[in-house]
Amino acid sequence: MIKACLFDLDGVIVDTAKYHYIAWREIAKELGFDFTEQHNERLKGVSRMASLDILLEVGGIQLPQHEKEILAHRKNEHYLTFILNMQPDEILPGAKNFLETLHQQGIATALGSASKNAMTILDRLQLTSLFDVIIDGNQTAKAKPDPEVFLKGADALNINPKHCIVFEDAEAGVEAALAAGMKCVGIGSPEILSKAHLVVSGLDKMTIDLLSKLQ
Ligand code: BG6
Ligand code: MG
Repeated sequence: MIKACLFDLDGVIVDTAKYHYIAWREIAKELGFDFTEQHNERLKGVSRMASLDILLEVGGIQLPQHEKEILAHRKNEHYLTFILNMQPDEILPGAKNFLETLHQQGIATALGSASKNAMTILDRLQLTSLFDVIIDGNQTAKAKPDPEVFLKGADALNINPKHCIVFEDAEAGVEAALAAGMKCVGIGSPEILSKAHLVVSGLDKMTIDLLSKLQ
């Protein structure tokens, strides 16, 4: 029986990948190399510092920790200039409607995101009240594919993981959901998200009927 749905944020509720990309590309440019959209695919679902490590690996650059922290901070300042100007029409199709439907059906909802900017984004888009529980990058020590973020979400909701369904667009996120003992719906391409129990192109394709078939 499905009692809770847990949602990743970036790529599931809102399309922030383009803003992460612009901000990281700027850092790469400062460091003197190109960072392509293809490289950016590797950053999806990955924490801020781990993203920087991937970027530096692409550029073949090694830096001491304190310089990495300065760069990560600068990237975030740039990213925030986009986030703070986001509009509710940047919510991905079907996301708000599906969250509202879950509430009407008495199914609990949680956010499970690696982002330390999750609250800023949810507040900006007026989505905060649609989540019963919010677990983000400020409350987790272990990044996906570790199940920590989803287990904390289920625990805060007081619901057994076996009654939870996770919605994820990143491979590491699908693995985290499975490691938590939860069912997973992949949002995006079936080739990349082959480990998910079901893959749909977006939350606009999700229905309560599809959910119940996952039990
Ligand atoms: C994830 C994104 O949700 O959050 C990653 O998919 C991002 O691309 C990560 O790096 C951390 O985000 P933030 O907002 O804490 O820099
Ligand atoms: Mg994501």
